Amino acid sequence: MLAYRHAFHAGNHADVLKHLVLDRVLRYMAEKEKPFTLVDTHAGAGGYSIEGRYAQKNGEFSHGISRLYDRQDLPVPLQGYVDLVRQFNPDGQLRQYPGSPAIANMLMRETDRLRVYELHPTDHRILESYLADRPNTQVSDKDGFVSLKSELPPPSRRGAVLMDPPYEIKTDYAKVLAALREGLQRFPECVFMIWYPQLQLLESTQLAQRLKSSADTAAKKGWLHVRLTVQQPDEKGFGMLGSGMFVANPPFTLHDELAACLPYLVERMGQYDGANFVLEQRAV
Ligand SMILES: C[S@@+](CC[C@H](N)C(=O)[O-])C[C@H]1O[C@@H](n2cnc3c(N)ncnc32)[C@H](O)[C@@H]1O
Repeated sequence: MLAYRHAFHAGNHADVLKHLVLDRVLRYMAEKEKPFTLVDTHAGAGGYSIEGRYAQKNGEFSHGISRLYDRQDLPVPLQGYVDLVRQFNPDGQLRQYPGSPAIANMLMRETDRLRVYELHPTDHRILESYLADRPNTQVSDKDGFVSLKSELPPPSRRGAVLMDPPYEIKTDYAKVLAALREGLQRFPECVFMIWYPQLQLLESTQLAQRLKSSADTAAKKGWLHVRLTVQQPDEKGFGMLGSGMFVANPPFTLHDELAACLPYLVERMGQYDGANFVLEQRAV
C-alpha cells in the first residue's frame, strides 16, 4: 500500500525538526576530509512545491517553515538549515521546499556517496531525475528497510543513515527498531537518524525507549533523543502532537546546537500554550 505522499506535509513542523538535525549532522561529517556515505532509506521525491495543490490542501508548511523563513533573529545553529531552504528558492519567495535528498545534495561533496531509496513509482521517478547528474549517487526503487543491510558498512567506514518511514502502517515501528539493531551490529559507529511521529498510540509512545535500549548497548558513541510537541490532541484523542528524532552515535556538538534552537522553535511553531520539547542524551 503506497497511499502516503510527502507532498501533503512538506515543510511542516516535523520536517523542520528532522531537517535541522540532518543539516547539523551532514555539516559535521563534511568537516573531515575523508568522504562519507549517507543512506536515505525513505527519501520521498527530493523536493516539493509549496504552491502546488498537495501542500496547499492542509497548508501544513504555514505552521512550520513559513514561521522561520523570513526571520532575522534565528539562533545560529538554525540559520544554516533555513539558508538551505532559501537557496532552494532562487527568487526569494517561499515556493519550494527541499526534502532530505535535496538537503543532502546541497551539503554533501562530490566525493561523498549518496544512496537513496523510494518505493513510490512517481516520487522515485522525480527523485531519479533530480539527482541524475550527481556523482557517487544511486537512486533505488527497492525497499529501504530491506536494502539497508547491503549498504553497511560503507567502504570509507564513515556513514550516516536517515530512516524516515510514513508510519501509516504500524509495522513501520518494529521495522525501524529491527533496522537500527541490525545496522548497529554491522556498523557500530554509524550515525543513525530516525524520525517518528508523536501520536497517542502505544507503538509511538514506546518507540523512543526501545530505540534507546538498543543503542545503549550497541552504539559506540551513545545516543541523543529530541522531541518537539507543538499541538494538543483533537477531541477524539487523534492528531500528530509533534515529532521526535532519535540519533545513534550523534556528533558531540549536536546536543548544544539543538539546545540553542529548541526554545525558539517552541515559541515560533507551538500551536498551544503547553508546546514543549524534550532533549536528552547518553554520551559515551
Ligand atoms: C516521510 S516520507 C520521506 C520524506 C523524506 N525523507 C524527506 O525528509 O524529505 C516517506 C517516504 O517513504 C516511502 N516509502 C514507504 N515505504 C518505503 C520503503 N519500505 N522503502 C522505501 N521507501 C518507502 C514513501 O513512498 C514516502 O515517499
